[in-house]
Amino acid sequence: MEFSVKSGSPEKQRTACVVVGVYEPRRLTPSAQRIDDLTDGYISSLIRRGDLEGKVGQTLLLHNIDNTLCDRILLVGCGRERDLSFTQYRKIISQSVSTLNDTGSMEAVFYLTELPVKGCNSSQRIRHAIEAAQDSLYRFDQLKSKKDTTRRPLRKIVLTVPNRRDLTDGEQAVREGMAITQGIQLAKDLGNMPGNICTPGYLADRAVTLSKVYSNLSTEILEEAELEKMGMNAFLSVSKGSRQPAKMIVMNFLNGDPADAPICLVGKGVTFDSGGISLKPGAAMDEMKYDMCGAASVLGTINAIAELQLEINVMAVIPTTENMPDGMATKPGDIVTSLSGTTIEILNTDAEGRLILCDALSYCERFNPSVVIDVATLTGACVVALGKHAAGLFSNHSPLCHELINAGKSTGDRVWEMPLWDEYQEQLKSNFADLANIGGKEAGSVTAATFLSAFCKKYHWAHLDIAGVAWKSGNHKGATGRPVSLLTQYVIDQAGDS
Ligand code: BES
Ligand code: MN
Ligand code: ZN
Repeated sequence: MEFSVKSGSPEKQRTACVVVGVYEPRRLTPSAQRIDDLTDGYISSLIRRGDLEGKVGQTLLLHNIDNTLCDRILLVGCGRERDLSFTQYRKIISQSVSTLNDTGSMEAVFYLTELPVKGCNSSQRIRHAIEAAQDSLYRFDQLKSKKDTTRRPLRKIVLTVPNRRDLTDGEQAVREGMAITQGIQLAKDLGNMPGNICTPGYLADRAVTLSKVYSNLSTEILEEAELEKMGMNAFLSVSKGSRQPAKMIVMNFLNGDPADAPICLVGKGVTFDSGGISLKPGAAMDEMKYDMCGAASVLGTINAIAELQLEINVMAVIPTTENMPDGMATKPGDIVTSLSGTTIEILNTDAEGRLILCDALSYCERFNPSVVIDVATLTGACVVALGKHAAGLFSNHSPLCHELINAGKSTGDRVWEMPLWDEYQEQLKSNFADLANIGGKEAGSVTAATFLSAFCKKYHWAHLDIAGVAWKSGNHKGATGRPVSLLTQYVIDQAGDS
């Protein structure tokens, strides 16, 4: 999809379709009013007759409207004007895009960017519009032999800004929106790819391919033999039960002052989580192919920031493996020595994410990072706590925590802070080793984060538990690409500050 920005009135647009909003109950937005004035009240007469109430998701397509230069006008219900949330705004955009796609307009000029979305400026509305449009058009059909094709698909969306002087900011928002949606699409594709194709080796290949696109992005793949030599026994304890060799993907985007400390992004890359010997129940086990969505979102973020050529140094560290119950698999009760030297009693092999992350987090120390942010589908308990709306945020550094919260608010890719109080450490005590890898029934997402915090004492760190936000279950099952938008915004903000 192509996006651009423009200013000017709706009647002057020579295009296949002009898209304008109608509020509930039957109230016109400024652009709808403008068209109404030019057509002797045609729009308001339709609305009075009851053709469109203005509820979110309603649409009405009009043809050959007098005194306009466009082929069609799409009226879209926007719900109540007051308290228009970004969620409502994104629904309005999605609905418009799918209607246009189904009704033969290959190009459209959107006046929906004028809607007064709560907490959003014009640039944020443009970013949301691009993300919502791309999201509603996304299909994962690479593995279907017959693909649904649209005869005259929507190819170009023009987003309007109020004045000519808003064009520069608008163009920047389009650049960011396109880079971010490219990253989101990569993250979705990787997440949706089944475990028999998306193996650790596949993720590594995709990282190498990505780094060939940008001259300041490089990738190194550490194989099991090297991981063993370094002493990453916690990581390797997970891959032992699988026939697929584990890999550590290390990417380096170097586009700031070479002396500047890098931001390290760490992503959990479990390409399938069967639970290992502590085998998971069968229901919905297929969804455990998504257990590499942390890795996918880190790759997507690297893609977005490389596309934007942000002037900053960012590294990606991705431990990737399967969690399977083969003959050599780790057994409950086994004790391993992690890279940091801390010994871990593995009481449940299904708590494998923290085992691969702890070694990756210790490994980050050598880069003297400015901050380390890990992203992981870590616990079912986080889904229980926060559902699909916010990722769990845990951090040992409150400025970092606030920067992430703010990036979440401005992108709508939200996070919610959870506690990391010392009292929780009690739950991770082991009779036989320094730490146990599970902390009992209570506060599962907190004890998982507490476990990780033991390996992050030497730098500023944040952990995002994305188990609830990384994919949707049910009929429209699929990866969401979160939190690429959040992470990219965080990096944009950091690049702007330096
Ligand atoms: N990948 C899962 C977490 C998960 C579960 C994400 C459900 C999304 C939906 C993780 O490896 C896991 O199995 N965690 C266990 C931890 C427990 C054994 C302490 C969990 O959450 O049940
Ligand atoms: Mn697990
Ligand atoms: Zn897992």
